[in-house]
This record gives sequence, structure tokens and C-alpha cells, in this order.
Amino acid sequence: MGNLAIFFGPEGGSVNRVAKALALKIENLKPALIPINEASADDLARYDIIIFGISTIGRDTWDQKFGNIDWARFMPIVSAFDFSGKKVAVFGLGDHITYAYHFVNSMGILAKSVVKNGGQLVGKVSPEGYDFQDSEALEGGLFLGLPIDEDFEPELTDGRLNVWINQLNQEF
Ligand SMILES: Cc1cc2nc3c(=O)[nH]c(=O)nc-3n(C[C@H](O)[C@H](O)[C@H](O)COP(=O)(O)O)c2cc1C
Repeated sequence: MGNLAIFFGPEGGSVNRVAKALALKIENLKPALIPINEASADDLARYDIIIFGISTIGRDTWDQKFGNIDWARFMPIVSAFDFSGKKVAVFGLGDHITYAYHFVNSMGILAKSVVKNGGQLVGKVSPEGYDFQDSEALEGGLFLGLPIDEDFEPELTDGRLNVWINQLNQEF
């Protein structure tokens, strides 16, 4: 297995908290924990395995008025990056009650960009057990990463992470 980094944003909220929890749980893999605010394409290039953490803020993209400003800077870097030879997984924070029709959309947009740029996407998750109406993160009946809702079902986060980590350990 190659070296691994968790690139996450924004800082100081739910994504940050979950990224830290995930890093602790996979301590044995010695993950680097990198805020996207401080990251460049050179940083992405340094890792064979990348886990992205993102939240959906704004109706469907990060470049709207209330958009996710950290990702507004970093997403163009991701869109221009060649992920060939890299394994990539994504977790996405969202709110399945208030935004049932746009649940974790940004996770999907990010994951699709990685695949378009040659990355091998791992860690897809069945929507079973999630209650929502629609999501851009769904493709072929699967979520393109791990959805997490710290707003309305925080009690499920720990278990969801554990199951996902078991899956990633098979797929990395
Ligand atoms: C203005 C605003 C817009 C949001 N839009 C969405 C959305 O479209 N889809 C979704 O699943 N969650 C949405 N959310 C919920 C956030 O993704 C959720 O609260 C997440 O945990 C925030 O994580 P962060 O604090 O690390 O950014 C929105 C939250 C806010 C405040």
C-alpha cells in the first residue's frame, strides 16, 4: 500500500471533526491530515491514496453566494489534476432533512471530477439506510463515497465510518 492523505475542507466544522475521527481510526496507515486551504497540486501528487472530505454548502455547487469558499479555491486544482494511478475515496457531509433533494451533492461533483481525471474511485456506498429524495452523488445505484449527516443523525457517524474503513481496507 502506498502513502495516504486525507485532504479536507472546510476547517472548523463537521468535515474537520469527521476527518480527525477518520484519521484516528486509520492511524495504522499513518495518514497525513491536510486542510485543502493549505494544499496545492504538488501536495496531491505526493500521495498514492487520497481521501477527500467535503461538505455541501449551497444548493448544488460551491461557487454560489453561500458557497464553500475553501473548495471554491481548491476545486479548480482538483479539476485540473491528473489522478492516474491514484486510488481516491470521498466522504461528504450533508443534511438529509433540510436538503433532501440535494443530499451531499458536492461529494458527487468532486468524485465525478476525480474519475474524469483518471482516478480510481473506491469506497462507494449503498444508499440503503439513508433517507433522502435525490443526490448528485448517486450513480449506478450507489453513492460515490460515504455520506455523513452530523446535523440529524450524528449517532450513526461512528458506525458508518467503521464499516467504510473495513471496505476501504479491502479496496486500497
Ligand atoms: C447554507 C447551507 C447550505 C447547505 N446546503 C446543503 C445541501 O445542498 N445539501 C446537503 O446535503 N447539505 C447541505 N447543507 C448542510 C451541510 O452540508 C452540513 O451542515 C455539514 O455538516 C456542514 O459541514 P461543515 O460545517 O464542515 O461545512 C447546507 C448547510 C448550509 C449552512
